[in-house]
Amino acid sequence: MPTPPPRRLCAIDDVPDGGAIGAATRPDASFFDLIVLRRGRAVFAYYNECPHAGRALDWSPGRFLVKDGLLVCAAHGATFAVEDGRCRAGPGGGGLVAAPIRVDGEDVLLLADAEAT
Ligand code: FES
Repeated sequence: MPTPPPRRLCAIDDVPDGGAIGAATRPDASFFDLIVLRRGRAVFAYYNECPHAGRALDWSPGRFLVKDGLLVCAAHGATFAVEDGRCRAGPGGGGLVAAPIRVDGEDVLLLADAEAT
């Protein structure tokens, strides 16, 4: 079975510099199962599932709190480094699971194997 091509998640400029947006692994998803974060021209993506209790990290659908370079989980306040998803404080265990993305020009692409996870 051929590997599907990467799918465009968003443009880099759709993500506020120093902030985050929600995205989805599937176009027909009913919720944001990905978090896309940006620092300058660097973009990072993680699955939107906190390792503490499995809850989504958004404070309202697709809206995330990034403070002092740390992503803050809405459920119990664990903080995660934007650059590597590791837990820095609180009950976040080993950290967030990175989603496979690639930046191509101005676009953030989700690589095909993300949908299998
Ligand atoms: S579910 Fe994220 S800190 Fe508890």
